[in-house]
Amino acid sequence: MTPELLEAGARQREAHAQAPLPKATQSGDREAAFGRVLATGQPDFAHGVALYLEDITVSFDGFKALNQLSLTVDVGELRCIIGPNGAGKTTMMDVITGKTRPQQGSASFGANIDLLRLRENEIAQIGIGRKFQKPTVFEQLNVFENLELALKADRRARASLRAKLNSADLDRIAEVLQLTHLRSLAHLQAGLLSHGQKQWLEIGMLLMQEPKLLLLDEPVAGMTDEETERTAELFLTLEGKHSLVVVEHDMSFVATLTQGFKKVTVLHEGSVLAEGRLGLAPKPGREPIPHELFELFPVLKQMLHRRGGDLSGGQQQQLAIARALAAGPKVLILDEPTEGIQPSIIKDIGRVLRRLADVGWRGERMAVVLVEQFYDFAAELADHYLVMERGEVVQRGRGKDMEADGVRGRLAI
Ligand SMILES: Nc1ncnc2c1ncn2[C@@H]1O[C@H](COP(=O)(O)OP(=O)(O)O)[C@@H](O)[C@H]1O
Ligand SMILES: [Mg+2]
Repeated sequence: MTPELLEAGARQREAHAQAPLPKATQSGDREAAFGRVLATGQPDFAHGVALYLEDITVSFDGFKALNQLSLTVDVGELRCIIGPNGAGKTTMMDVITGKTRPQQGSASFGANIDLLRLRENEIAQIGIGRKFQKPTVFEQLNVFENLELALKADRRARASLRAKLNSADLDRIAEVLQLTHLRSLAHLQAGLLSHGQKQWLEIGMLLMQEPKLLLLDEPVAGMTDEETERTAELFLTLEGKHSLVVVEHDMSFVATLTQGFKKVTVLHEGSVLAEGRLGLAPKPGREPIPHELFELFPVLKQMLHRRGGDLSGGQQQQLAIARALAAGPKVLILDEPTEGIQPSIIKDIGRVLRRLADVGWRGERMAVVLVEQFYDFAAELADHYLVMERGEVVQRGRGKDMEADGVRGRLAI
């Protein structure tokens, strides 16, 4: 939500409220079916799906930021979307909110509302709220006034901006203050809030409009650990009442949100690379340990009754991978698994990753995303590589071409 969108929404509603009601004879007319009437239409959620994206392609001067992207999000679902920088995550949100028009594909809200025919402010009105990466609140107003403004921007006519709040409005504001942990700060000027609190306020402003679908782009970037935890709590509270799409880099935040069983979508080069459960450790003692784990990591069988803390660094790393696999993930993400580990165990880990990528895990195919500084290890394993520098992908190619592409020279070590 941005101030401009709030403004545009208010103007639109005012115009709508003042416009004469459509004549009955217009109902069979194409204009009536596809025009502004949609702005007040309700999404049809009868099939349980809140958002359908199908075959969406967005090109910028021939470069495909989205490439035949297809995705559905269920009503009440909390879906995390992860992927490297430049994968197209923000562009996907731009398409859903009408900021960017795709060259190809379809996008609908519920079964019936064609998002590609609506303007940005109309999409906001039908119940799709978006939180941009940077917080955008009215810094001069206090927290309460920010929420009040968001509420009023959602009213039919601009005239009501001068109207008094009724008790239902006050209840709603109190509820949102509570949810966003801002109750005690209601009368503080928004400009004085911490970064995390501003983010919550903006989420609160979105909630005032009672969106059915909330899009959140890297909502915990720059937050403290404690703020991140509270944000996870907030999202878990909202789940079910709203559909949420959360784009996020912070894997521990994603892990908290998905609780080991929710679906995660991995975007890569504008398409869905994989979808499924993340490789997260299940709560201990819930399920028997799959015997395949000991085939991959025989050493763990010998160590079964040792405490994790007594294992060597390499064994701990193997245990961490084994725990991730125990959840039956479709995507395994590893952040520098070789750091501080002896060469023979690095070799063992490499063999395991190669096998997982080649034959999958427990009868299902698996994608492995390896983040690594150790060039030789990565070069030996990679089917495809991406080189990142300062938050950007600066080079990409096939693993077997890494040497010829001069990737080694890009690494400091
Ligand atoms: N308006 C634009 N013009 C040209 N290229 C763009 C534009 N917006 C995004 N891109 C490119 O599209 C790709 C996807 O960007 P983005 O959706 O922001 O990725 P993410 O949010 O996953 O990091 C990037 O390579 C980016 O440089
Ligand atoms: Mg982005």
